[in-house]
Amino acid sequence: MIDFRPLTEADFPILCEWLNSPHMRAHYQKTPTTIEEVQGKYSERLSPSHPTHCHIAFYRGKPFGMLQCYLLRNYPDFASEMGEHDGVAVDLFIGEPRFMGRGLGKAMLRSYVLNVVPSIFPQDCKCFICHAKENKIAIRGSLSAGFLPYRDVIEGGVESLLLSFDRPI
Ligand SMILES: CC(C)(COP(=O)(O)OP(=O)(O)OC[C@H]1O[C@@H](n2cnc3c(N)ncnc32)[C@H](O)[C@@H]1OP(=O)(O)O)[C@@H](O)C(=O)NCCC(=O)NCCS
Repeated sequence: MIDFRPLTEADFPILCEWLNSPHMRAHYQKTPTTIEEVQGKYSERLSPSHPTHCHIAFYRGKPFGMLQCYLLRNYPDFASEMGEHDGVAVDLFIGEPRFMGRGLGKAMLRSYVLNVVPSIFPQDCKCFICHAKENKIAIRGSLSAGFLPYRDVIEGGVESLLLSFDRPI
């Protein structure tokens, strides 16, 4: 029921709309953004050679969220904050508010780490996701997707929980 495809330039308007949704303010996109900023930030990520790989998630053919994955070792500052330098980090959000709270967040995360991440990073079996301690829904969703609490970290000055997922080989 959930499909993924790589982000394209044609997704930038909806991505901008999603990032500016009120539910994104608390944790993922703390300040409003413009279409020019979205283009500036995400255009370079469209190249398969960019270290961050972005995907749009679809439910029954309707786009509803975005995920991205990247090797920690390509982002040494973030890796230092996490205290981990190997493995794949994942970020995610549901952009369409009407798709929230229906089990799709946990389902898309599990499907992504089992089906998409291995196709991009076949050698790396460990995935990480980091959530602010206050983001209880995200933490519950990641636990339900099969992640386990790994360590407490401070991300960007915010008390957070790093969770890990070991993909079966
Ligand atoms: C985090 C996010 C992806 C979760 O997706 P979701 O579809 O809303 O959540 P799910 O329906 O999969 O539910 C996840 C868990 O939270 C619980 N939950 C969901 N909505 C809830 C609510 N409003 N109140 C209390 N619990 C809630 C669910 O019961 C589930 O827990 P369980 O598996 O133990 O039953 C989504 O809420 C989101 O995009 N939030 C904004 C961006 C964000 O915070 N991203 C993560 C930062 S890295």
